Formats: sequence, structure tokens, C-alpha cells
Amino acid sequence: MKNQLTANQLRQKYIDFFVSKDHVQISGASLIPENDPTVLFTTAGMHPLVPYILGSDHPSGKRLTNYQKCIRTGDIEAVGDPHHLTFFEMLGNWSLGDYFKKEAIAFSYEFLTKVLEIDPSQLSVTVFEGDDLVPRDEIASSAWMSHGIPQERIYFLPREDNWWGPAGETGPCGPDSEMFIDTGRKACGDDCRPGCSCGKYFEIWNDVFMGYKKNADGTYSEMERKCVDTGMGIERTIAILQGKKSVYETEIFTPVIAGIEKLSGKTYGNDEETDISIRILADHVRTSVFILGDPKGMAPSNVGQGYILRRLIRRAVRHGHKLGIEGSFLGELATIVLGLYAQPYPELEENKEFIFKELAAEETKFSETLQKGEREFEKMLPNLLKGTSRQLSGRTAFKLYDTYGFPVELTRELANEHGFSVDEEGFKAAFEKHQEISRSGAEHQFKGGLADHSDKTTALHTATHMLHKALRTVLGEHVGQKGSNITVDRLRFDFTHPSPMSKEEIQQVEDMVNEQIARNLPITVESMTLEQAKEAGAIAFFESKYGEQVKVYSIGDYSKEVCGGPHVENTSSMGHFKILKEQSSSAGIRRIKAILE
Ligand code: SER
Repeated sequence: MKNQLTANQLRQKYIDFFVSKDHVQISGASLIPENDPTVLFTTAGMHPLVPYILGSDHPSGKRLTNYQKCIRTGDIEAVGDPHHLTFFEMLGNWSLGDYFKKEAIAFSYEFLTKVLEIDPSQLSVTVFEGDDLVPRDEIASSAWMSHGIPQERIYFLPREDNWWGPAGETGPCGPDSEMFIDTGRKACGDDCRPGCSCGKYFEIWNDVFMGYKKNADGTYSEMERKCVDTGMGIERTIAILQGKKSVYETEIFTPVIAGIEKLSGKTYGNDEETDISIRILADHVRTSVFILGDPKGMAPSNVGQGYILRRLIRRAVRHGHKLGIEGSFLGELATIVLGLYAQPYPELEENKEFIFKELAAEETKFSETLQKGEREFEKMLPNLLKGTSRQLSGRTAFKLYDTYGFPVELTRELANEHGFSVDEEGFKAAFEKHQEISRSGAEHQFKGGLADHSDKTTALHTATHMLHKALRTVLGEHVGQKGSNITVDRLRFDFTHPSPMSKEEIQQVEDMVNEQIARNLPITVESMTLEQAKEAGAIAFFESKYGEQVKVYSIGDYSKEVCGGPHVENTSSMGHFKILKEQSSSAGIRRIKAILE
């Protein structure tokens, strides 16, 4: 490539180019999505723009551009190879009901060939081949041809390749056109084409023609106002422009890797196992810094985003130890990451104290756990190796988890390193049995302690669901349950919301709950997996329970929520709902106390 841009240069050139084409630069959003309870992190530049793509007016107009921090956690375990990242930056430009395919492709072609100076003969593109819902994309294809891309480098591919979105479970989506650089390597076979994993073709940009909306029931509706959404990953693009085989060889990773080399005394690029650990450490530290340093940043915990953060930090620490690094080291590596991103992401500097404090706390806590767990594993190893089975029993994996707090993901990794697999089914069974025991303990307590008044507390529990729903309707979908505590006299509900509620909002919420109670709604319950529950539109906040069967309670057509129960049979028995108090609980968290009278 002629134009060996750095990340900082590419970011600037992209924004400048689209500003010169009458786009307005908007700032990137938080990594924690505002209005989408179906995913934990912002996964694409278009994600924060969903409401505008769906039709509301954007205050900055119809042509927008920006760079956006993104996290995709689908494949944390895949990080370690030369390509996967959990955090990346996406460049994007949008048309909100303004230009469509022809102009979007003209912009893309001009930017790639004039600004990035990519030789047009190296470009291949893909377009949607069509199906029952949407016709073959002849418009996109002829747009590419009009710029001189020959037919044989335009590939018509099916939905699994050339359809994008929605970003969460529902929302805007449409056919797309992806742009690839041909690295010039030999094709791996006759059917080698863009999208093939052999490495000949490298995807750098995606133009999505947002014309459809996926609904909660799985159907698609056509959008009246068509939009364009494009996304270019900075890390991948600079790697290809710089002629590097891996994103980890570019200037956004080499200083971090040098830091790891210095701390560990190991060298990157000599030995595959070492390289894997170095890449995991480099990626996970970077992502952790961005989660902690986000304006809505959060500390490691056992739920939601905090749980992902905890997993990332713990995996980083473990691989640091594997590389032979002693003492604490995350802070030193975080300093390097901060230095690299100070200019485009000033929030990191602003939240520096929080970043270092939380990293150090989790590192210390986990190092202790780890030492205990690894020691136990090593102790078991001779016995395990004597046996003929190369599978670690579910009971053993569970013991490591339960007694030593050793996460099963790490047991799996440790086991794999010694040639063992883990009996996953067995682990799940042991885990569920344990949960049943603790759950029946809790139920027992419920019955025993509150036997006389169980109708009252049950009704307050149903009221809690209705309150949750009403808060989300009145204040917005960012409202999420942070805690619930019910006594015979009142309910107490903690939820995320940045500011005190106004008198009117409190009244509105109270009225809404009472209106629904008056509808005499029946309460029904179904069992399903967490994934199915989410597909059915149920509110589910505790993300760590994937794969588990959960109960979903529906209050008529009003609310649907994953919950253990119990609930009343019909809202007619509940009485009148009244909010007594709305107050602060902690930073960003409000608390409501309410009664049924
Ligand atoms: N949303 C599309 C993507 O993530 C284009 O921005 O690829």
C-alpha cells in the first residue's frame, strides 16, 4: 500500500472526508447502550443511532459521521489468535433519509481510491443476491460497475453474508455491500471468494442499506425512510494499509506488547503459546481500560457489563502469570493504553483514578483466588493423569468454582492446556443442583418467616414488576433493576436512572401501575431458556445465566420479565399502589419505596 496511515491519521482523514461531503461530525456514544436492553455493549457505530434510523429527526441533520468505541463479547475465548479483538473503533457515515445506494457507493469508492490511495484493481466487493423478502441488489452492483469495478470482482452473496443487523434483537437492518482488499495471495480453492477465511481477502468496509426493521415477533417491516449506515474498523484497516499481517503488529498494540515484553522478559513472535498469552493480555487490558474509563463506566461485578469486565481482567491476570510476570502489572499496561488514546478519548484521562483503583483491586483479589485454585488443580493433576479418562469431571470443575471461586472458563483453559476437556454437562448439573439447594433454602425462609402475610408480599412482588415496566415507559429503557427488597409492609426497588424523578414523573408512574391493576390482568408463567425469554421480549437483567432455563412471568399484555416468582394470579386482588418515597441510592441509582393499600 502506498498510504501507510496510522490509526490517528485514518480517523482524521475519514472524518475530514465526510465533513467535506456535507456530513456533520457527531461524538461517539458511551460503550454502555442507552436504549437497548438486549445487548451489553455498543457493538457498532449505528447502534446509538437506531432511534434516528427508525425515523426520529437527528438534531445534527441528515448526514452524519463519527468514530465510535465498540465492544463485541461474543468471542472473548477466540481472542489470542492474530486477528480477534474485543474492543475496536468503528468509523462511520450515515444518511438519515438523504442519499442512498448510489451516492454511498460513490463516497466509498472515492475515499478508498483517492484518500487511502488503494489501487482499484485490488478491490473486490460483495452485494446481496436477493431472497423472498428483498430483491437481488442490481442497483448496488451497477453503482460499483459505474466506477470501473469489473463484474468478476462483484460477488452476489446470500443473506448470511450480505445482510446486516439488527444490532440487538430488534431494530433496523438491510442488505449490505462489503468492500475487500485482495492481498494478492493465492486463492485457497475454486470457491475462494471475499469472505473466505483463508486470508486472501481482507474486509475493510461495509455499506448497509437500512430499509427494514426487525420486530420482536421476528417479522420484518419495510421502513418508509431509507437510511445508509457504513462501518470501517480502524484496527483492521490500518493493518492492511500498513501491510501488516495482524492488528497486533500495528502502532496501537506494539507499545503495549513492548510493555508486556519488558515485564515478562519474553519476546513476542518467537513462540506461539507465548504470543497467545501476550495478545490476550494486550487486548483484555485495552478493553478493560475502555470499560472502566467510559463516562458510564462500571466496576467489575457478577452481573451484566461488570461481569464481562471481571472476566476480561481475570483472564488478563492469568495470562500475565502464565508469562511469568510477578506482582501487579495491569496498572503499568493501562498507563500505556491511556497514553495511546488520550487525544481521541479524553474521558480516559478524566476517569484515570477510577480505572487504576478498580484494576488494582480486582487484580489483587483475583491473584489470591488464582493461586489457590491453580494450586488445587496442580494437586489433582497427578491423580488425573493416572486415570484413563482425559476429561475433568463436572464435580471437580464445580468444586474449583464453589470452593475456590475459580471461574469455569479458566478451569476449561487450564484443563485444555494439560490435554483435558471438562465435562460441561456434569458441571452444569452440579451447578444447577447447588442452585436448587440454595433456592429451596430461600423459599423455605420465605414461607417460614412470612407465612402469615405471604399474600401481601406476593402482591408487592407483582407490583414490583409493574413498577419496573412503568418506570421504563415513563423514564426510558435505560431503567434497569439494580435491587429489590420486599417486606410485608412495603416494596423497595433500586434502579438505574441518572437524576431525581420529578413530581409529575412519580405521579405518572403511580397512575400507570394503578390503571394496569384496574384492568384485572391475569398472571401467567412459562419456562424457557434465557435466550428464548429475550427473544420473546422479556426483561432480563442478569446476563450471566445464559443457557439456563428461566421462568418468565407475564402480567397480561403489560409486562414480561424473567423471575423466580411467586406472583398473584390476577391483579384484581392487589389493591391500590402508592409511591411513598423516591430518593438516591448511590451514584446513578435511584430508590423507590411503595406500598399496596
Ligand atoms: N453496522 C455495520 C457494521 O457493523 C456497518 O456500520 O458492519
